[in-house]
Amino acid sequence: MGPEIVLESVGKTFKSGKDTIEVIRNLSLSVDDGKFLCVVGPSGCGKTTLLKLMCGLLQPSSGRVLVKGNPPDPKRNRFGVIFQEDSLLPWRNVLANVKFGLEITRNKTDIDDLAREFLSLVGLKGFEEYYPHQISGGMKKRVAIARAMAVDPEIILMDEPFADLDAQTRQILQKELLAVWSKFNKTVIFITHNVDEAVFLAQEIVVLTKRPATVKAVVKVNLEYPRARLSPPFISYREKILGYLHEEITAL
Ligand SMILES: Nc1ncnc2c1ncn2[C@@H]1O[C@H](COP(=O)(O)OP(=O)(O)O)[C@@H](O)[C@H]1O
Ligand SMILES: [Mg+2]
Repeated sequence: MGPEIVLESVGKTFKSGKDTIEVIRNLSLSVDDGKFLCVVGPSGCGKTTLLKLMCGLLQPSSGRVLVKGNPPDPKRNRFGVIFQEDSLLPWRNVLANVKFGLEITRNKTDIDDLAREFLSLVGLKGFEEYYPHQISGGMKKRVAIARAMAVDPEIILMDEPFADLDAQTRQILQKELLAVWSKFNKTVIFITHNVDEAVFLAQEIVVLTKRPATVKAVVKVNLEYPRARLSPPFISYREKILGYLHEEITAL
């Protein structure tokens, strides 16, 4: 299998009034099918912009983005997207939130069963009738994961999904995400600020420079899952990534 996502010398500038802001410059990247890739970079460097370019929500100003050899197209490619702010619909219960994506992509016959199956997979059996305001932050993230997985996406794009959770819940969800990923073997692009999270999750970590973002380093994490946070190799990967980031932040 060839690469799933390819970025070729991608540049992105935004215009606001007379000003232009260059957010991404000459960024090249290739993500293989089934990979778990984390992207880390200084805040405001262009990570969310990069994610939106990958799924076709934004068009590059220069260069090319290719998904399986063609520009991303929501009609042809299925993306499961999870943004930082949980985007659950407050007027729909948990089950109906998971069904939401399926209503768009599938015929109606079996979506109820499918949604229940994915809720059970993320440990939310019994919570189908709850509304978003009745469940915890961690549970909302689980609903978002179930909703993204249920549409059988080719690629899952996650933008700092666990950033606003407490440390314990975050670690539990990281483990659950890895379990779901190893079961379905989807390509995952996971953006995070948190270096510990990146080393825990990723097969490959892309470190971005400060804005305009380009690739500073690509680090392959050669550690078996599940990973032990206190092991010397884990710590040395962490130090390495932190070193790269530190260079970018002190270079401001
Ligand atoms: N639609 C837009 N119009 C103008 N500027 C934007 C737009 N989207 C993002 N930006 C700017 O691009 C920069 C990078 O934003 P973003 O990709 O959200 O960074 P990150 O996710 O790394 O924090 C920021 O300075 C932001 O203000
Ligand atoms: Mg962002």
